Amino acid sequence: MSLSREQMLDEMGLSPQWVLRDRPAVERGAQKTAPASNPIDEIPAASAEPVANAEPIARMTWESLRQSIAGCRACALCGERRQTVPGVGDENADWLFIGEGPGAEEDARGEPFVGPAGKLLDAMLAAIDLKRGENVYIANAVKCRPPANRTPEAAEMAACAPYLKRQIALLQPRLIVLLGRAAVHAVLGEEGSLASLRGKTLAYRDGERTIPVIVSYHPAYLLRTLPDKAKAWEDLCRARALMHAASADL
Ligand code: URA
Repeated sequence: MSLSREQMLDEMGLSPQWVLRDRPAVERGAQKTAPASNPIDEIPAASAEPVANAEPIARMTWESLRQSIAGCRACALCGERRQTVPGVGDENADWLFIGEGPGAEEDARGEPFVGPAGKLLDAMLAAIDLKRGENVYIANAVKCRPPANRTPEAAEMAACAPYLKRQIALLQPRLIVLLGRAAVHAVLGEEGSLASLRGKTLAYRDGERTIPVIVSYHPAYLLRTLPDKAKAWEDLCRARALMHAASADL
């Protein structure tokens, strides 16, 4: 996609009121730390569902993880998938965006967020000077398409959780952006409303590391609920400021 930033904001329904004031200069390859100048507001209890296959998955490389996901039969979603949709992007990315689960187009192509919601996500990324595949990784709470694009069930997200957990451990992102309630449930074990979690800096614990987490709306929801695009833009600006602070703290 080669739209200008103004066109991206336009695409998000945000022109002309929102202007990006400064740009982050995140130094790639430096040791990743949580941003000290942006304290974490609260740490929700992590979802602690024991999953039978979690232990071997926790030791996998990217390649073995992809193979394991491709052959996964841990829940009923495997029965209707055309293919698995493990995730896409830079495997050393500072930014990790997590959505809900693949839809029809993602199921057909094997890549997350390639349908209409994905086009909006690309526009959102571009509005904060990010691009799919460049310092950004995109994953979903579940790696197989739920039938008729329904929300994944808690047991399905629990069955897929070791994969997402391993992706986070391998990536070690500086920041996680959770898009929608299913992602929040899968990563933080939180079932509260998005409204109560937006605007805060939450935390994901990966062993000794604490990774800051920002919660925002799912792009598919934003396509249906145009007024909330402005709130999503606020979330993106917060995320961007947090990342900027993280790089300044290095
Ligand atoms: N919605 C999601 O949550 N993920 C996708 O990959 C596509 C649509």
